[in-house]
Amino acid sequence: MAAVQNLDQHPWQDDPRHNDPAGQTGEKMMDYRVTFHTGDLAFAWMVGYVEVNLVGTDGESGPHQLSKWVPSYLRGVSTFNVSCSQNIGQLVLIKIRKTFSLPRVGWFLAKMEVKSPIGVVFNFPVYQWITDSEEHIYREGKALLAADETTEQAKEARVRELDERRTDYSWKEYKKGTPHCIRADTVRDLPLDEHFSDTKQAEFAYNLVNGLVKLGLTDIAECKNSWTNIHDMERLHNCHRTKIGDYVCEHWKDDAFFGYQFLNGINPMLIKRCRDLPHNFPVTDQMVFQDPQFTLDDELKKGNLFLCDYKVLDGVPANIINGQPQYLMAPLVLLHRTPDDKLMPIAIQLKQAEAWDNPIFTPADSMYDWLLAKIFVRSADFNLHELNAHLLRTHLLAEVFTVSLLRNLPKVHPLYKLLIPHTRYTLHINILARNNLISENGVFTKYAASGGEGMLIILQRSLSSLTYRSLCIHDDMEDRGLEDVPGFYYREDGQKLWDIIHRFQQLFVEDILRFYYKTDARMHEDTELQSWIGDIYEHGFLSNEATGIPEKFSTVDDLVKFVTMVLFTCSAQHSAVNTGQFDYDGWMPNTPSTLKQPPPTTKGTTTEADILETFPEMGTTVMNMTTLWLLSTQSTDTASGKLESIPAIIGREAGTPGQVASPGAVHAPDRYFGEYPEDHFTEDRPCQLIKKFQAEIKKFTEEVNTRNEGLEVPYTYLDPQVFANSVSI
Ligand code: FE2
Repeated sequence: MAAVQNLDQHPWQDDPRHNDPAGQTGEKMMDYRVTFHTGDLAFAWMVGYVEVNLVGTDGESGPHQLSKWVPSYLRGVSTFNVSCSQNIGQLVLIKIRKTFSLPRVGWFLAKMEVKSPIGVVFNFPVYQWITDSEEHIYREGKALLAADETTEQAKEARVRELDERRTDYSWKEYKKGTPHCIRADTVRDLPLDEHFSDTKQAEFAYNLVNGLVKLGLTDIAECKNSWTNIHDMERLHNCHRTKIGDYVCEHWKDDAFFGYQFLNGINPMLIKRCRDLPHNFPVTDQMVFQDPQFTLDDELKKGNLFLCDYKVLDGVPANIINGQPQYLMAPLVLLHRTPDDKLMPIAIQLKQAEAWDNPIFTPADSMYDWLLAKIFVRSADFNLHELNAHLLRTHLLAEVFTVSLLRNLPKVHPLYKLLIPHTRYTLHINILARNNLISENGVFTKYAASGGEGMLIILQRSLSSLTYRSLCIHDDMEDRGLEDVPGFYYREDGQKLWDIIHRFQQLFVEDILRFYYKTDARMHEDTELQSWIGDIYEHGFLSNEATGIPEKFSTVDDLVKFVTMVLFTCSAQHSAVNTGQFDYDGWMPNTPSTLKQPPPTTKGTTTEADILETFPEMGTTVMNMTTLWLLSTQSTDTASGKLESIPAIIGREAGTPGQVASPGAVHAPDRYFGEYPEDHFTEDRPCQLIKKFQAEIKKFTEEVNTRNEGLEVPYTYLDPQVFANSVSI
């Protein structure tokens, strides 16, 4: 038997004589002080009756209502006494039931602490909305594998938790040949725990409304006029500027900048060292080298030639926008590393098959021929980047990792504790992406060259050719032969971050996992863990052995590497391909989402007017730019994010500057990389490791900032002060 008292509301009840029925018989009562931490979220508080049952290794308190007569008001920190007639030993779990509350959405219970009669504190991480009057069970914070469970109640709780989760989170095939996703058509179908906070939701919606409706961009989306001069585009550019965006606007025609973007733009995932020229790309010395000191053979041997091959786009049907056919090429680009370490494009072939009407363009051609060839490459890059590097390789994979985590690992599992912060908001943002970007009427579907049928083909081809090694930045750089390319900041920063996450000085993922998996055998017997990777293999990579994704883990080393990849993909890699979208693609001529004239089939005929006519319509340009702005925006912490309407822009003097946001610092993420405000881990060792991890991240940020001070174009997308823990935008 036990009695409960709310110490905040009724301090007089601290006197055990008031609620210690056992005291009347002279028995000594054992008081457990239970502290509830209600989350600091909008509408997280609760007024009502709550029943708790403390379960320990030597017994349980039995169900007790926190207050009998007056409803409890739970907000911030609230402490109650639960008196038991016996010591119930080490606490294992708490059962909670909200028996009655005012009709509201729910109660966000962040965590609980229980102080035993002898002063031992037990922590119970929750971080969950309680919306019903069912019993909920929360485990003590010490991470445990299933094999470590010692009580039947704990074992049953573990099974029950996963059964419930598998009901709430199930798989669905989105489209054939693409990673499976959460079975939820709209955000409302998602459990409340996965929703954006009210603030983020309101601000996100506000941006969308602000950008697309209130400023009249819906009407502009229907503006079918072609651009007639570059100055109108500059006026549009002025409506929202960033420092890098300004640089792009100034240098988009430069060959050196064209080459630079393959390394440090937002799609550093395609370029590779060229060892042999592809048979379908018959470049000759005479075409590309005016200087006799260079030959293709020599430069190939020296490793100075690089290739970007968009063959995955070959034969992909292009979109039709406003009744006009669009054009999406599958180019081949040859780049030469010059003695002064510039990466210069030296040949472009816009279609894969060698043919008389498929010329190889070089810088020796007319200015407009060469510029238009580069524009077609940049447009192809936009489409491949958004669908493969961004959507598939970060958003969709992050969703697979998330759903598998939620279905297979209970909250008390160490891997759940390690990865759950890196899944924040991913399901919500992906539903928005499926419904608003790539749906039938989605912005991408309507305004990108690959929108529609082509989109699915690109996703299917990209997934079937994706490899595990390409998701691990060290392996990826080795496979693409890019280990020693100077000035490749994506590689430099990405590899350092990978090492910090992985095992820098035996830290973080390596140490945390080895703390729980002392031997490979312990990992083999962890069926929850093996189900987690099994689901990823089946639902994410469609059981394609050729990807190299493990179907199960054999060694702890395998596990450590895979978990590092998951954490890196959900945070750093997403930032590398997401954060700079507005910087690099906001200035449309640098990266047109689509092109509405076919490429030239002969040389020497292209004019400036042809290029303007090839660019997307004004409406398409504006809609795409608005979307990129939104997708580069982590939250509304912005002074300059407001877009102006096109009439206002066009009506303004070209030179009128808009505000310029600092590179990579346009908006603050919800939670910076490495920030863990939720105490999922409660043991000393993982908490110490997290602190060391955060210290390493801070040091790395300082290094990046110092390096960037000396760069003409700073590379900020892998600065941990720029990106979030998870795919949330
Ligand atoms: Fe994104």
